Amino acid sequence: MKKLTLHKTKTIKLLSILSIASSLLLLQSCSQKPSTKQVQTVKANLNGISLPHNYKNWKVISASHRIDNQSMRIILGNDIAIQASRNKQTNPWPDGSILGKIVFKQKAEDNWPTAIAPNVEEFTHAEFMFKDNKRFAENGTGWGWARWLGDKQIPYGDDNDLDQSCIACHTPVKNKDWVYTTPIKLP
Ligand code: HEC
Repeated sequence: MKKLTLHKTKTIKLLSILSIASSLLLLQSCSQKPSTKQVQTVKANLNGISLPHNYKNWKVISASHRIDNQSMRIILGNDIAIQASRNKQTNPWPDGSILGKIVFKQKAEDNWPTAIAPNVEEFTHAEFMFKDNKRFAENGTGWGWARWLGDKQIPYGDDNDLDQSCIACHTPVKNKDWVYTTPIKLP
């Protein structure tokens, strides 16, 4: 009889531990849902690079305007890149730097037609360079290259030309660690 009661108490203890553990798991899976969904909605590009979702909170490194294809570009950096640009340590950029470029078609400013501005209704693409000398040693640049197209953020490129087309066009600035943009200086 005594043995049975002991057994019962043990079982009850075990059951309550299990139920606490399962509610914790449930809580955790609920709290993870939004981020999982966010990651799933934008596919990684073909060489396995994921969109750095928090680029929307990054700081500005510079801007440019392409007159040949009527587009406005805003160049952004993650914290490591911003720190490097403020310290003028950008040749080479340190590992962990990510540079982003967000591109819009241009339009004349509604109330001041001689000012050219991004057309916020026409988001062309977002593209990124990820500095990681180990992971991206193979392509010869130390940068990972990726682009996502339009509002739907469709991964760009195919296996063959994915980073090769980027690298070919960035070759004129090979001696600037493959980067065109000169970070803005603030007084
Ligand atoms: C047709 C030439 C060309 C191609 C192809 C190209 N780039 Fe660029 N890229 C440029 C030029 C020029 C700039 C600087 C001027 C500007 O902002 O557009 C630039 C700027 C950038 C920047 C901002 C940092 C910097 O170097 O100034 C990133 C990030 C970038 N490109 C990523 C990519 C990625 C990723 C690809 C491939 C998917 C790519 N580029 C393909 C010409 C090119």
